[in-house]
Amino acid sequence: MPNTTWPTLPQPKSGSTLDMSTLSKTDNSKVTVTSLLKLKQAGEKFTMLTAYDASFAAVIDQAGVDIILVGDSLGMVIQGRDSTVPVKVEDILYHARCVSNVCQRSMIMADMPFMSFRDVPRALENATRFMQEGGAHAVKLEGGGHVLPVVEALAKYGIPVCAHLGLQPQYVNKLGGYRVQGRDEPSAKRMLQEAKTMQDSGADMLLLECVPAGLAELISQSLTIPTIGIGAGVDCDAQVLVLYDLLGISFGKVPKFAKDFLVETGSIQTAVKAYVKAVKAGTFPATEHTFN
Ligand code: KIV
Repeated sequence: MPNTTWPTLPQPKSGSTLDMSTLSKTDNSKVTVTSLLKLKQAGEKFTMLTAYDASFAAVIDQAGVDIILVGDSLGMVIQGRDSTVPVKVEDILYHARCVSNVCQRSMIMADMPFMSFRDVPRALENATRFMQEGGAHAVKLEGGGHVLPVVEALAKYGIPVCAHLGLQPQYVNKLGGYRVQGRDEPSAKRMLQEAKTMQDSGADMLLLECVPAGLAELISQSLTIPTIGIGAGVDCDAQVLVLYDLLGISFGKVPKFAKDFLVETGSIQTAVKAYVKAVKAGTFPATEHTFN
């Protein structure tokens, strides 16, 4: 039975004083788009992990994960829906607030749910709510060339953006399932081109989901902004996992790219730290988690 001791939660930010004496100077400095860019330039990998509530967010923050993604995967892992499509702006807002109430160091990224960024005014309004009401520092959005005007507008107004290419789960009803993307030459070339245009339009990061490792490596080398991979091989600048996959409690089919770190470590805290260490050392993802 794993040791499930609860983390010591920092006090809510409003009107509280935190004991920062246990945090080193480096641990204490907030993660920003600039600090992540510097890591890429220095060839150092960083980490992202999903969280949807205060307790897990505190563990993840204290374990040194750089970005906490309040992902629309909450539709599946929290709400038990069969896709991310039903997730609403209010759902992301609620969970972003839970996470941001306790985080000290990690950057908080809010996922823009299905149809919440279908035109520029709507995208600006919803992203503003994620930042002002949800406490997010950045947003992520799925989509190719057609979302460029949105990326550009968000960037112009000072909202850090993570673009999301490769498998885009919000398109599951069009795709007919969750499949690796960019396997043939025309689609690989298109993805590389879209990645460059996302960067040119002002994206600060690019998430690549279920992409052959060689293509993800080429995209990562071709961009100056960091890439964050999930099922995209070890050569991305960073990695992301859904928290419950890392804890071995994914229900249904376990994705090939997932790894249960809890089974090897015995506590949630050490499992998250082991993930951070493995990503930074380049030992996760391994070949068995990778598509070729
Ligand atoms: O919503 C989410 O958790 C995501 C990850 C799978 C990257 O987008």
